[in-house]
Amino acid sequence: MSPLDTAATLPRNSDIEAALAEAREAYAAARPRSAALHAKAREVMPGGNTRTVLFYTPFPTAMVRGEGCRLWDADGREYLDLLGEYSAGLFGHSEQRILAAVKAALDAGINLAAVGEKEGQLAHLIAGRFPSIEMVRFTNSGTEANLMALAAARGFTGRVKTMVMRGGYHGGVLTFGTEHSAVNVPIPLAFTDYNDPAAATRDILAEGEQLAAVLVEPMLGSGGCIPASVEFLQALRDATRKTGAVLIFDEVMTSRHGPGGLQQMTGVTPDMTTLGKYMAGGMSFGAFGGRADIMAVFDGHRPGTLPHAGTFNNNVWSMAAGCVAMGEIFDAAAAEALYARGEGLREALNAACARAGVAMQFTGRGSMLSVHFRPGPVTAPYKPGPAEEKLRELFFFDMLAAGIYIARRGMVALSLPVTEADCGRYVAAVEEFIAARRPLLAV
Ligand SMILES: Cc1ncc(COP(=O)(O)O)c(C=O)c1O
Repeated sequence: MSPLDTAATLPRNSDIEAALAEAREAYAAARPRSAALHAKAREVMPGGNTRTVLFYTPFPTAMVRGEGCRLWDADGREYLDLLGEYSAGLFGHSEQRILAAVKAALDAGINLAAVGEKEGQLAHLIAGRFPSIEMVRFTNSGTEANLMALAAARGFTGRVKTMVMRGGYHGGVLTFGTEHSAVNVPIPLAFTDYNDPAAATRDILAEGEQLAAVLVEPMLGSGGCIPASVEFLQALRDATRKTGAVLIFDEVMTSRHGPGGLQQMTGVTPDMTTLGKYMAGGMSFGAFGGRADIMAVFDGHRPGTLPHAGTFNNNVWSMAAGCVAMGEIFDAAAAEALYARGEGLREALNAACARAGVAMQFTGRGSMLSVHFRPGPVTAPYKPGPAEEKLRELFFFDMLAAGIYIARRGMVALSLPVTEADCGRYVAAVEEFIAARRPLLAV
């Protein structure tokens, strides 16, 4: 039986609540082992997990094995993995060159409390690739990279305030879906609107010399794979040049787009860039870099510079895997090919939605895309209405039933092992979804 047969037999229910109830029930019935693991974890972990993005009701699917772009869950079901570990899994789950590099690094001794040969090598690979990066340092995560980039901007400018975008996401303690969250680091903030060049210019100039930094994703990732317009990024560039604020592009996700990230594609060069996710082959990683004069605030050869600590900043497995990932596998040609594959997939998905005339579309760039259940252009972050929320959930369960693993919020991040045939399978599953759920998708 093809995995799509499962989707085809899903209920054609015109009432979304009933459809969802049925989908949830089928989901739970098929995954007793995941349910049991969740119940056990809940005894000692709030919500039964330790990474909020992986939480959903009734309980998340527990995965036990991955190979290439395939995953197997605790109940023995196989999936095509189109989530790609939220973009960190660019190389898939079993790239032999990454595994060999990590193994060799561990065989040579687990962390040596010393500088090694790989960190300089990886730094050269990265500096050679991204237009804004003259100097770079490493962290353990994208969150930390952003925190340290902001520290660099404060140290360099002697100012304290940071401007971020409403709807932006820069890590667990820098999350701006709502302006004020108890989870965020208590740094002085100003806000402006994504993809609104006039508002951004006005707001940056109004802050004037108060502003140490402007932090922006050149495509919103968590916010729904919504690309920034070149005009918007250029407005940020022009206004920050006027006030002296440090412009930071968070390319933790988007650095995979082409050889030099979205900064190269858009031709807008920030002062600093933050990186992370896939770049160490799937090992924990973050990096921040940029203009040499700004990064010099961490140069230990100079008196009075800032410290940048972190036990695992140059851990041997991330450094070794990063050198192979960026030096041998994800070269310019591989980056361009992956980008093209993603563009083709998004076009095919949008063509299917347009043919069916439904209020459903996919936004994104290259290998990252997200589903939206609304008509008209999606150019800014938005709070989905209750019906949209339910459709997203239904879509997620229907994709799982079809054997396709995506983010609960509807995001896809293609990995290198994903083939054209795999992309075709996703398009077919989306077409099945549209056919089965059409009454719920009216424009
Ligand atoms: C744009 C962006 N910045 C920063 C981060 C944080 O990275 P990490 O989860 O490695 O801390 C993420 C993670 O999803 C991200 O999407």
